[in-house]
Amino acid sequence: MDRIRIVGGRPLVGSIAISGAKNATLPLMIASLLTDQTLVLDNVPRLADVGLLQRILGNHGVDVMVPGKRPGDTPDNGHTLHISAARIVDTTAPYELVSKMRASFWVIAPLLARMGEAKVSLPGGCAIGTRPVDLLIMALERLGAKIDIDGGYVVASAKGGLKGGEIRFPKVTVGGTHTAIMAAALANGSTLIENAAREPEIADVADCLNKMGAKISGAGTSRIAVEGVAKLSGARHSVLPDRIETGTYAMAVAMTGGDVLLEGARPELLQSALDVIAQSGSEVSATNQGIRVSRKNGGIMPVEVTTAPFPGFPTDLQAQLMALMTRAKGTSRITETIFENRFMHVQELARLGAHIHLDGETATIEGVGKLKGAPVMATDLRASVSLVIAALAAEGETMVNRVYHLDRGFERLEDKLSACGAAIERISG
Ligand code: EPZ
Repeated sequence: MDRIRIVGGRPLVGSIAISGAKNATLPLMIASLLTDQTLVLDNVPRLADVGLLQRILGNHGVDVMVPGKRPGDTPDNGHTLHISAARIVDTTAPYELVSKMRASFWVIAPLLARMGEAKVSLPGGCAIGTRPVDLLIMALERLGAKIDIDGGYVVASAKGGLKGGEIRFPKVTVGGTHTAIMAAALANGSTLIENAAREPEIADVADCLNKMGAKISGAGTSRIAVEGVAKLSGARHSVLPDRIETGTYAMAVAMTGGDVLLEGARPELLQSALDVIAQSGSEVSATNQGIRVSRKNGGIMPVEVTTAPFPGFPTDLQAQLMALMTRAKGTSRITETIFENRFMHVQELARLGAHIHLDGETATIEGVGKLKGAPVMATDLRASVSLVIAALAAEGETMVNRVYHLDRGFERLEDKLSACGAAIERISG
């Protein structure tokens, strides 16, 4: 299994090209099941999760064509996928595949909407929380689907097609909102989604679906209206930049000191996180090319943050912020409200010398003068990159194990950081 070796203590200086967003790419690829024509996606990140989803869609009969290199292409360019679900030959998503990536459960919506039936494995447990899918099932039932749970599978049918209806989510759910929008897009009649998630990735998917001929309004707000249509066509869409990758590298610069331009990043996609980084003592400025983050002389100031759905502070940046706060001048508090078990990184950060006390959903971090390198273990995608951020500032060598977690959501992380002066390398096998 690959590992990553880091020798800390160097400031980050240079520029990093931000990739397309993983959490937009996955639902966009799944949306291709809604049409028998070709959906072309540009700015797609090269991630393990994208590769796995290609396999999962292939199981339904979807063809994915990736054009070869073109003149002028650089590793910084995302790649392009030509996705064609001309014929859906299988409406079952098996446990072996769905259990590898939870978001693949969302195929239930387009399969049901287009084919009138779907049999999708329940995703199973996850390191960061129980993560049930009851609200996704509720949304489909509100659109007239008949749903049974049988042998670990959700068996859904909609004879005569889905029907427009009203969906009110008791709590904000990103997956539930994606599922409701995709299902309602081909439903008979109009649908109103209340207390919808407002994440930028929702608006990006709705934007793409509207290019395919859907009638969706209000995406990005908590009230979304969908006028069902009989058929969707193909389209071409460029995936929005990854705000979580942006926030991650911004915190790495805040941690090590330095000056980095995050190319292609869009401040409005993560303003709450940028405000916290500025509060912690770094300079954050929007430029024509993206976002510039720098920290020269001053230290790292403590902050108090509670995670929340967009536009609040994203839970997917909680671990990275905790790493930054391990070296703050004073006491910080971070409260996690989205997932009940998202503190797996605490014990690993403690191995580097961090002082963190957990009390229910709140972590209290006493900043220390310095961290010291040690072997650590990645447990999930965002926890693993928080260990990388801490190691970049720690004295001596850190070895991060199980980096396959990182590869799920960060494209060419070592290349991007070493181009800015970090002493970081991947050790294969
Ligand atoms: C999406 O997960 C993201 N994944 C997550 O990113 C992100 O952390 C999360 O949204 C919150 O922002 C993708 O986009 C692929 P939710 P999702 O439904 O849709 C509960 C990463 O690191 N809930 O908004 O699964 C749930 O348990 C990943 O890239 C129910 O109770 O999250 C959680 O407590 C990790 N019943 C809360 O709602 C349901 O049916 C929010 O979950 C659905 C959710």
